[in-house]
Amino acid sequence: LASIEVDVAAIQPGQAIKTSWRKQPVFIRNLTPVEIEDANKVDAASLRDPQTLAERTQPGKENWLITLGVCTHLGCVPLGAASGEVKGEYGGYFCPCHGSHYDTAARIRKGPAPLNLAVPEYVFLSDTVVKIG
Ligand code: FES
Repeated sequence: LASIEVDVAAIQPGQAIKTSWRKQPVFIRNLTPVEIEDANKVDAASLRDPQTLAERTQPGKENWLITLGVCTHLGCVPLGAASGEVKGEYGGYFCPCHGSHYDTAARIRKGPAPLNLAVPEYVFLSDTVVKIG
């Protein structure tokens, strides 16, 4: 399948879902205002892979963080998308394979991963339906 359509209406702020696209896990997360603030108060230039939350989301939809669920170190699936999973020291995602910590914009903050979780191409078809790919 080249693309998938996902209804995100049921994902509450602070929740995420895992889906899959091109056989890869994808995380769709509805960030809370506090998570957005946490991401925005970081000086992006100081990061290993410098990107702002705005560069990783779409205008007016900064709460929707859509990334591949593939650690950029050696490809494990990070924890933090399912409820009850640890989110790591920066409140985003945590890869248990070798200890990479991602923040609330899924940017790499600590551990061996070289890059932020990748953002796939996507477009919102309506307020609640997103097409990935
Ligand atoms: Fe994620 Fe190594 S694969 S830290």
